[in-house]
Amino acid sequence: MASIATSTYLPPLGAPHDREGVARELTAVLQELVNLSLIGKQLHWAVVGPLFRPLHLQLDELVDSWRGLADTVAERAVALGVVPDGQAHAVVAGSQLAPLAPEAIEDHLVVRELTHRVAEVSELTRERMTRIGEVDLASQDVLIEVLRELEKQQWMLRVQLGERA
Ligand SMILES: [Fe+2]
Repeated sequence: MASIATSTYLPPLGAPHDREGVARELTAVLQELVNLSLIGKQLHWAVVGPLFRPLHLQLDELVDSWRGLADTVAERAVALGVVPDGQAHAVVAGSQLAPLAPEAIEDHLVVRELTHRVAEVSELTRERMTRIGEVDLASQDVLIEVLRELEKQQWMLRVQLGERA
């Protein structure tokens, strides 16, 4: 994460540490979304069982959504004057999501693994969304969009596990 040279055209965001703080929260969410999209692709390849086809297709929809959200989050950080790190090494260091073993995974386990991780990222996003609201409402709005999408996905996965909505 590196600040772009100070410019009079940067959005006014209080003290420099406020800008860095918001960018740090955005970067953390970006890294979780990138990791989620990599895990989603892994499950797209690894899923086996009677529900292979619907899950294989659903996973690509989810990956597209996470990649799109990651782009929105990253570009908000850049708009604030900070280039976030969404590269593999930074994602490994920053993401809290557990990796998957590179092997075939039964369809019902795929849904469980996925639900668990989406719920984890939702929770982290909710905490960060709350924190940055005091400093920058526009960045908070970006995380609200992310959270709304993740929690919708969480509902759909939860009912696939057989739980009540
Ligand atoms: Fe594919």
